[in-house]
Amino acid sequence: MKMGNKEERRMTGAVLWVLVGVMGVGVRGLENGLARTPPMGWLAWQRFRCNTDCVNDPHNCISESLFMQMADIIVNQGYQELGYDIISLDDCWLARNRDSHGRLQADPHRFPSGIAALSDYMHKRGLKFGIYEDYGNFTCAGYPGILGYLQIDAQTFAEWGVDYVKLDGCYSHPVDMDQGYPEFGYYLNKTGRPMVYSCSWPFYQILSHIQPNYTSIINTCNLWRNFDDIQDSWESVQRIIDYYGDNQDEIVPNAGPGHWNDPDMLIIGNFGLSYEQSKSQMAMWAIFAAPLLMSVDLRTIRPEYRAILQNQAVIAVNQDSLGIQGKRIYKDKGIEIWARPITPVTQGHYSYAIAFLNRRTDGTPSEVSVTLRELGLAFPGGYAITDLFDGVHYGTVLPDKRFKVDVNPSGVVLVRCEVIKSIGFGGGRAQFREPPPQRTLRNPFQNQLFNNFRQQRHF
Ligand code: GLA
Repeated sequence: MKMGNKEERRMTGAVLWVLVGVMGVGVRGLENGLARTPPMGWLAWQRFRCNTDCVNDPHNCISESLFMQMADIIVNQGYQELGYDIISLDDCWLARNRDSHGRLQADPHRFPSGIAALSDYMHKRGLKFGIYEDYGNFTCAGYPGILGYLQIDAQTFAEWGVDYVKLDGCYSHPVDMDQGYPEFGYYLNKTGRPMVYSCSWPFYQILSHIQPNYTSIINTCNLWRNFDDIQDSWESVQRIIDYYGDNQDEIVPNAGPGHWNDPDMLIIGNFGLSYEQSKSQMAMWAIFAAPLLMSVDLRTIRPEYRAILQNQAVIAVNQDSLGIQGKRIYKDKGIEIWARPITPVTQGHYSYAIAFLNRRTDGTPSEVSVTLRELGLAFPGGYAITDLFDGVHYGTVLPDKRFKVDVNPSGVVLVRCEVIKSIGFGGGRAQFREPPPQRTLRNPFQNQLFNNFRQQRHF
């Protein structure tokens, strides 16, 4: 199929969309039943970018061998069994031109076996295979985009055995995305192959001061970017955290099983984050119910960073089946408290993951002292509290008991507060286990930062 200029391509998209509407599929979206918990895996972009120089840098260039090596490590070094199961291409995998039938093709030098073979490599190892494209004339790095070829590209992805599609939004008009992203979702769906659909639609619209239609986005995409690309720095991670906190009333309600906000890749293990900051990113991405897409060289990652990525207790918070995204419930003097409702739920009371995040840079930990009631955790039977990074069990803490945590500069303390399950019923009243002795309850008046702590309204 030979397409004309940009305008003609867009026109073609519009005509197809009208047909889609007439056929009665409208904006019902993918309804693909996928991503019931946030997707987990490995994505090339943040760490390997658009390095296409396989002659001088064969070890790090975007090539099939890079993805195969990462897949092997995911399988052999314990990542897969923790849930990291998607290996995804990002930009710069394509040849500069489509083939003679108008089909996308990979760069023949860097992907000599072809994409179907790479996908097969993943499937043979029980992994899923992800691909990157762009709803525009070009990808962000200038390779062929899908505009004008939506149906043929969706079909090609299905034939290649793709399981996950990241669709970027460079070289397209953000106003067109309200029809374009659902249209491509329709064609993905029509292939009959379940493919997780990752969108950049709201991000580009927000950049252009267009109010995203989140109802349509939720119905179309399994995940979507709201904010700028992550860079390899604590500053960048903090900007994302601030965006999520400052806009939480609008964006948090949109998250849920099958549809997630995507604050972008995990940069843990790269060059820009300290150990404390890496724990902070992992903890906050768990609070955000964010996709956990590592972008790091797994061949050389240091063990302490790998341990953060492989922290099972933190992953369990991220993957909690309720799929409720957490919110910032306190922010003052560089200390933030974030809360995410999680399972188990007892007698209408949620359990919570609570992150105490220290944005301060004083050279000593900050002490934060709170009662659970101040955080909105009021179940009379109390909560079993565990620190998810150091594994310490605080025992059962009743709502009005004060407890304290020491939070390192640019670090985090992430605790799981599990509502105590009743152990029996007598006369209609729940009975609770005797709380074990509490290790770390402190004098409430010791704390410096929270003398004036007031619970803010949340959830
Ligand atoms: C955009 C996306 C990034 C990455 C690059 C590739 O900037 O937001 O995640 O995919 O394009 O060019």
